[in-house]
Amino acid sequence: MTLLKLTDVDAYYGEAKILNRVSLEVHRHERVAILGRNGVGKTTVVNTCLGIARIGHGRIAFQGVEPRAIKYFSAAQAGIAVVPQGRRIIPGLTVRENLILGAAVGRPGKWNLEAVCALFPILAERSETQGTALSGGQQQMLAIGRALMANPDLLILDEPSEGLAPVIVDELAETLVHLAGEGTSILLIEQNFSLVHRTATRYYVLSKGTVVEQGSTEGMSIDHLKRHVAV
Ligand SMILES: Nc1ncnc2c1ncn2[C@@H]1O[C@H](COP(=O)(O)OP(=O)(O)O)[C@@H](O)[C@H]1O
Ligand SMILES: [Mg+2]
Repeated sequence: MTLLKLTDVDAYYGEAKILNRVSLEVHRHERVAILGRNGVGKTTVVNTCLGIARIGHGRIAFQGVEPRAIKYFSAAQAGIAVVPQGRRIIPGLTVRENLILGAAVGRPGKWNLEAVCALFPILAERSETQGTALSGGQQQMLAIGRALMANPDLLILDEPSEGLAPVIVDELAETLVHLAGEGTSILLIEQNFSLVHRTATRYYVLSKGTVVEQGSTEGMSIDHLKRHVAV
C-alpha cells in the first residue's frame, strides 16, 4: 500500500519553479528520509503535499487517491500529518490547547491527549504552560504530539533535529523508530546524517529541486553523501 506518491512533480511558488520532475513514494510501514542541503527544495516537497506550492506538472496521490485540488486539509484527511520546520507552536496557546488543535481533522484512532501524554510525560506535566515557553526539545515533542493527535498513517517531519542538543536527537531517533513500530510510517526530512541513518531504511537525496540519488540507508556512505548533507 502506497501512502504518498509523487510522480514527476514540478512545483512552483508563483512563477518560480522549485521542484523539477520529483518522484518519490512512501509505503505503509516504511521509514523514508529526504536528505539535502539548505534551499534544495525539501520543504517545498511538503508544501506541495499541502497545496502551498503549486503543481505545474505531475501528480500526487495520497493513499492511492489523487485529490482534484490539493488543499491544506486534503493531506490531513488522507492520514498525512506534518511536523513543520521550526515546529510552529502556536503562540498564546497552552501545551494542551496546541495538542487539541492537532485533532481538528477529526480522524479516529488510538492517539488522544492521554496517549500523547503517555508517550511524552513532560507534556502532561506542563499541559497548562504556554507551548512557546517550552525548551526546544519539549517543543519538538509537542509538535510531534500535535501531529499524532490527527491519527496519521504517515508522519512527515521537516528537519526535526534543527536546534536540538545531540542527546535530544538520540531520543528523537528512538521515538521515531518506536512510532514506526506501532504502525505510523515516517517521512523524515533531514540534514543530520546520523539521525537519518538511525531512523530511515530508505532515502532520497534532493539537489536543486531534483532527486539525484536514492537507495537503502544500510549501505549509505557519509563520505559519498557529504556533498549533499550538512552533518
Ligand atoms: N514562499 C516562497 N516563495 C518563493 N520562493 C520560495 C518560497 N519558499 C521557498 N522558496 C525558495 O525555494 C527554494 C527551496 O526552498 P525550500 O524548499 O525551503 O528548501 P529547503 O527546505 O531544502 O531548505 C529556495 O530557493 C527558496 O528560496
Ligand atoms: Mg526546509
